[in-house]
Amino acid sequence: MINVAIDGPGGAGKSTIAKQLAKDFGFIYVDTGALYRTVGLAAVKRGFKPSDAEKVVPMLPNVKVELKFVNGEQRVFLDGEDVSTDIRMPEISMAASDVSAIPKVREYLFDLQRDIAKKNDCLMDGRDIGTVVLPDAQVKVFLTASAEIRAKRRYDELQQKGVEAKFEDVLAELKQRDYQDSHREIAPLKQADDAILFDSSNLSLQEAIDGIAKIIKEKTEK
Ligand code: DC
Repeated sequence: MINVAIDGPGGAGKSTIAKQLAKDFGFIYVDTGALYRTVGLAAVKRGFKPSDAEKVVPMLPNVKVELKFVNGEQRVFLDGEDVSTDIRMPEISMAASDVSAIPKVREYLFDLQRDIAKKNDCLMDGRDIGTVVLPDAQVKVFLTASAEIRAKRRYDELQQKGVEAKFEDVLAELKQRDYQDSHREIAPLKQADDAILFDSSNLSLQEAIDGIAKIIKEKTEK
């Protein structure tokens, strides 16, 4: 199986780019952030503070998180209900980051991610795919962009969806999440030694897609 790992901070364009590349290469696209978001949502729904491991860990055996692929598109289910839209609410971003720092949560989601990669040619994006989940992936890319540019993209996305937000707040939240994701003790966001750094700050979406497609071709055609 061909496994492509794309890691990087929030808002770097991982999901948009990976989705298109998966289509072009005929691989499935796995958005692992959606899994952490689903656990975050489960905690919020129960009224738990997402950073409270004493509440979140005992909850895990009672929640069912599933990924399904419908027409090549990933959908995520919480206890049988499709929550693919709910997990995109801005407040769930921080809840996901909070629960993702709890080691038992990472353990809980580990096999699910590994199983998909074992059975499918896939492009998987997240924070620790190249370092922890798929250390043997044939292709590893660390996709990044400056915080201001990532915040601007997020802000534009929210505006398009008609969600009210202030640019300063979007930037501050993004920086806080970067910090939290990079400084947690377990599987922090960091570039794998053998990953290729790809900075999309000054590239159009298409240029970024083309650049990463070239890396994938070079690495998999050898
Ligand atoms: O990619 P995203 O913004 O949907 O991810 C939401 C949060 O989930 C992110 O802040 C950190 C966590 N996450 C993680 O810890 N490991 C991953 N592989 C993917 C996401």
